[in-house]
Amino acid sequence: RATVIVAIDGPSGTGKSSTSKAVAAQLGLSYLDTGAQYRAITWWMVTNGIDIDDPSAIAAVAGKPEIISGTDPSAPTITVDGTDVAAAIRTQDVTSKVSAVSAVPEVRARITELQRSIAADAENGIVVEGRDIGTTVLPDADLKIFLTASPEARAARRSGELKSTDVQATREALLKRDAADSSRKTSPLAKADDAVEVDTSDLTLQQVIECVVTLVEEKR
Ligand code: C5P
Repeated sequence: RATVIVAIDGPSGTGKSSTSKAVAAQLGLSYLDTGAQYRAITWWMVTNGIDIDDPSAIAAVAGKPEIISGTDPSAPTITVDGTDVAAAIRTQDVTSKVSAVSAVPEVRARITELQRSIAADAENGIVVEGRDIGTTVLPDADLKIFLTASPEARAARRSGELKSTDVQATREALLKRDAADSSRKTSPLAKADDAVEVDTSDLTLQQVIECVVTLVEEKR
């Protein structure tokens, strides 16, 4: 069939975003960064003074913010109640709080519904990247990829992105977030049984992109 749904999951720093955007652009598909949506709802909670350590307080207002994702892979956008939050959601403050907010079932139910409706509306198909896309959000995806990489490779990449020289601190923060994401009760970070695992530790971004493009083309 003409449309193709691709789920790309994995821990932080494995190259999910760069790979997903490039694959979508190359194949003329839409692109959805689900981490950006969890960051956006976290930003809203922080901005509105919601106690991040109180899951019931988070649950009570989970339906309030309106989150809109633009799905053009060459210029993805994200707004909360009409405000462009693309930069605000990348701060260390939001990054350190997102795992707690995204563990709340009411938050996940809300964001998952949004993700499914965006995928259903994508005319040519879509690449959706996250942690639970293959397992929970789009279990019928045409192709599921699970990206992995050694902690060293991931910390080095993330430090490069953040222009941080403290690779050790970056490594610790990243492993802590992955541990939280993997151990939460509601749809944790996990590889779907039918996902193709790609270890990106010793591959260039270009090699990973080519690998995924080939896998998508086999499904079309
Ligand atoms: O991908 P990114 O690092 O921006 O994701 C930020 C956070 O959002 C993750 O650490 C995780 O807590 C949450 N997330 C999630 N489920 C997804 C995508 C992201 O829980 N599908």
